[in-house]
Amino acid sequence: MVNVLVVGSGGREHALSWKLSQSSKVDTVFTAPGNGGTQNNVSIDVNDLDALSDFAQKNKCFTVVGPEDPLAAGIVDKFTKLGLKIFGPSRGAAQLESSKIWAKDFMKRNNIPTARFEIFDDAKKATDYVKSLDYNVVVKADGLAAGKGVIVCNSNDDAISAIDMILVKKTFGSAGNRIIVEERIDGIEASYIALSDGDVAIPMASSQDHKRIFDGDSGPNTGGMGAYSPTPVIDDALAKTIHDEIIEKTIHAMKNEGISFRGFLYAGIMIRNGQPYVLEYNVRMGDPECQPITMRMDFDLYDYFSACVEGNLSSLPAPAWKPQYAVCVVLASKGYPGSYQKDLEITGLDQVPNGSIVFHAGTKKLNEKIISDGGRVLGVTALGDTLDSAIKNAYLASEKVSWPEKYCRKDIGQKGMSYL
Ligand code: AMP
Ligand code: GLY
Repeated sequence: MVNVLVVGSGGREHALSWKLSQSSKVDTVFTAPGNGGTQNNVSIDVNDLDALSDFAQKNKCFTVVGPEDPLAAGIVDKFTKLGLKIFGPSRGAAQLESSKIWAKDFMKRNNIPTARFEIFDDAKKATDYVKSLDYNVVVKADGLAAGKGVIVCNSNDDAISAIDMILVKKTFGSAGNRIIVEERIDGIEASYIALSDGDVAIPMASSQDHKRIFDGDSGPNTGGMGAYSPTPVIDDALAKTIHDEIIEKTIHAMKNEGISFRGFLYAGIMIRNGQPYVLEYNVRMGDPECQPITMRMDFDLYDYFSACVEGNLSSLPAPAWKPQYAVCVVLASKGYPGSYQKDLEITGLDQVPNGSIVFHAGTKKLNEKIISDGGRVLGVTALGDTLDSAIKNAYLASEKVSWPEKYCRKDIGQKGMSYL
């Protein structure tokens, strides 16, 4: 039996802790810092690598890292040096997410399909370039900018003000010292997430996120307002293309460049005319994609994490998935992704029907009450034999839970319905 330490505090980490605690090989699952829904919370910040490694050492933990920041800061390198087992990519491998420029150059030299692009650190040159193009662009800050450093432009004026905001006004600080100006690809977006031990990759179930705050994919981008799995947008043939031409190619190219990629590899995909393009890599599970994907897992997740760390993933059978659809509706605080009120009591959690799961994100426990403590507060997740019934079950459960400032999208999963 082994203890597990899950690093993070979101819905993704609650889902991972929930699944890992079902393993017959796992003793106690700790979560640092966790939230109002996770058990055995340890009050350590995700970026306090010294305190995390001390805790893992003292409690003989196998560590699983949820978010990107500690990965980019080298938590895996540090733990590995100390002889601690940890699931996630090294700092070098995490560059696929932590530097968008590194990732674009990597894709270019390895022929991995992605939008055409140029890199700039000079606003005038970037502006002249935009003016010379006959297509719309997306302007991206190079570094981690809490998901806000990407501006999708509808005109040259949009692009010029995005360039000014990032390179001149430094809205994202040093994450915006350099920018990517790339072709805007109009198509259908989906998430494809795989697990790798550095040599082979096995796909997780396909999924689709809903990134904008309002119904019909309007309004500003968020961390994700809901997700479902599997998605009909990725059929078997397309899944094979993505797996072979993007995921396996990435893992092998990384290895050839001397970087072993161990962990979740998440490709944000845009599908245009049936062809997939990589919009971005993430080196972790998606949030909220993790919640419906985890709910469909019919295998021991710890076995797979352990095999990634040991480098023997190929010895495990293909993972089994529940045949049902799963839908996760994010309940957020009104105002998110802008400012919002916190510290409001959440009621009705005990009314949620059996079989639906409420994964906590921005919550905390106070005197046995659950209090709102963030923008994305809960992820209500349910299964159904059809996508339609999974959507109905997730909304039925969502309606039981309330607090004065609750907001959710009403159309999670409808993008998939229009495809069936
Ligand atoms: P990223 O963080 O790079 O995934 O970008 C955030 C969002 O911007 C994506 O989820 C897409 O909706 C959009 N986006 C990024 N790159 C492009 C692109 N080349 N064409 C169209 N939309 C894009
Ligand atoms: N749901 C998008 C992400 O995790 O980046």
